[in-house]
Amino acid sequence: AAAPVTDTYDRPLKSLRLSVTDRCNLRCQYCMPEEDYVWLPREDVLTFEEMATLAGYFADLGVDKVRLTGGEPLLRRDLPRLVRLLLQDRRITEIALTTNGILLANQAQDLYDAGLHRVTVSLDTLRPERFRQLTRRDEFSRVIEGIESVGKVGFTNLKLDTVAIRGFNDDELVALIEFAKHYRAEVRFIEYMDVGGANEWSLDKVLSRAAMLEQLGRHYGPIEPLPERGAAPAQRFRLPDGTTFGIIPSTTTPFCAQCDRSRVTADGMWYLCLYATSGTDLRNPLRAGVGADRMRAMIKAGWEGRRDRGAEERKALERVGLRDGGLIGIDRLR
Ligand code: GTP
Ligand code: 5AD
Ligand code: SF4
Repeated sequence: AAAPVTDTYDRPLKSLRLSVTDRCNLRCQYCMPEEDYVWLPREDVLTFEEMATLAGYFADLGVDKVRLTGGEPLLRRDLPRLVRLLLQDRRITEIALTTNGILLANQAQDLYDAGLHRVTVSLDTLRPERFRQLTRRDEFSRVIEGIESVGKVGFTNLKLDTVAIRGFNDDELVALIEFAKHYRAEVRFIEYMDVGGANEWSLDKVLSRAAMLEQLGRHYGPIEPLPERGAAPAQRFRLPDGTTFGIIPSTTTPFCAQCDRSRVTADGMWYLCLYATSGTDLRNPLRAGVGADRMRAMIKAGWEGRRDRGAEERKALERVGLRDGGLIGIDRLR
């Protein structure tokens, strides 16, 4: 049975974000430079079996929720096989996928059949021209096809993630809510955060939760906040017509105090925080044959020593007008 482990702020370890590849088929302005990235060599990337083994150690320590991320996770061949492998561990009760949607139409059925529980598609704009400007790729229509496919194959809990950027898509909130309604999805507006590889973040590009609610309230009328759900970063709201949506106010209202997540990159580095600048290599010990007990003990000790609250610290820096300029990789945001 899982022995729950908690960190120095008494936060449990419940959620694991697994980056299955560092590669991506978009080049979102806030994430990746256009120039060709140096991708990880294939042999550095964890196999599905290695990922499942690591996930098992995390499950031993209390993890029950896994989110598959990237890069773009659907670029990894046969992702449904990983879903099946992970689900062989009965303690893992929820597997979610964060994708840009481009390859989703072809894979949605197999992912559903493999037992994937939830899908989140990133969608920042409904205007093909803006999409191309932001992502530097002309893939808008495939993303929409991907979104359409999710409901068709049987998923009932699609989420759309929209990074709200002032001066870019701040005039599309209503359109995105209506679009989501049409696909029985829930849209979540994410405050633009100062992270990511190629990010030209500045505070004036952040559309705050307050500004979003003000704008939506003007259009729809009174907006009702819904009760919070534990460690989820999204705050949910209901419009007068019953439509719900979320806001992830990571910039103005960090959720560090409830953060129960950690992340493993495609090459097996374990990070305790989105903003962490160093991590723990799990791949080399795993490949060197370090046994289950020692692997588990290493992860347990890492979590028990965890003091990270990166978003709160970032906010405090912002308040006194300081920024350290440190940028981190998108594979950990995702
Ligand atoms: P569910 O609520 O279970 O669907 O998962 P989630 O809300 O964590 O969704 P997802 O993983 O898609 O993350 C959505 C957004 O939350 C990201 O785009 C980030 O803006 C933010 N986010 C995710 N992880 C972290 C984190 O560790 N720290 C902070 N500060 N923000 C995060
Ligand atoms: N701030 C907020 N969200 C971001 N994402 C990528 N970069 C940022 C940022 N700087 C989003 C992606 C995707 C999710 C995984 O993270 O657009 O929706
Ligand atoms: Fe790819 Fe996501 Fe980064 Fe866009 S934000 S380039 S979809 S990893």
